[in-house]
Amino acid sequence: MNKIIECQNLSYTYHNAEIETPVLNALNLDINPAESLAIIGQSGCGKSTLLNLLGGIDQPTTGKVIINNADLSQLNEEAITNLRAQHLGFVYQFHHLLKDFSALDNVAMPLLIRGDDTHSALEKSSKLLADIGLQNRLNHRPAELSGGQRQRVAIARALINNPSCLLADEPTGNLDTKSAQEVLGLMMELKQQKKSALILVTHDMNIAKKMDRFLTLENGKLV
Ligand SMILES: Nc1ncnc2c1ncn2[C@@H]1O[C@H](COP(=O)(O)OP(=O)(O)O)[C@@H](O)[C@H]1O
Ligand SMILES: [Mg+2]
Repeated sequence: MNKIIECQNLSYTYHNAEIETPVLNALNLDINPAESLAIIGQSGCGKSTLLNLLGGIDQPTTGKVIINNADLSQLNEEAITNLRAQHLGFVYQFHHLLKDFSALDNVAMPLLIRGDDTHSALEKSSKLLADIGLQNRLNHRPAELSGGQRQRVAIARALINNPSCLLADEPTGNLDTKSAQEVLGLMMELKQQKKSALILVTHDMNIAKKMDRFLTLENGKLV
């Protein structure tokens, strides 16, 4: 079976002035199509660093990341950006929506960027927003939405172009318990519908247990 993401012997060290901070150490990980994986670990252990490598946002110090059979180390910046746009979706703890754009435009953005025509992009996006109960919030800007609603819009944006894998970095970390449950439920439902894999970083064991499997990041390795 083809893997969605493979990493081999992945290491990462931050270099700042004289200081070296090794974070990941010869780590290996395979993601299968449509599976869900939680990555847990103490604050500062390198979870966000790992997601940034998996998403091609940073390049590893040593080792390889392979996304849908493409070795990122063999690609230039533009090719990585295209690969990311085509195969990956991202959700962060803070929504990172564009503040001057409506919910509808935010969700449609990935489709417009990849060149879909405006009419079909907006139609698809308003349908997805309606599916997640935000049909009355299409023209609201992020500041006019609740925290949970913003995160739902961010999830819709991440999944609108059917990515093979959704990368989520503590997506409910900033929400109250009830909104967190709603947002998590929605994410699992959409992931199922779109048949995307999910890599979820969380420090909440109750959430981690809801995934197909979970791994702990410890001393730079997944155990
Ligand atoms: N830009 C940076 N320069 C130097 N060290 C960094 C930088 N970003 C993060 N770190 C360090 O790398 C480690 C891992 O950070 P991070 O991946 O953000 O951890 P987590 O997401 O698990 O909380 C931390 O100890 C942090 O202090
Ligand atoms: Mg983090």
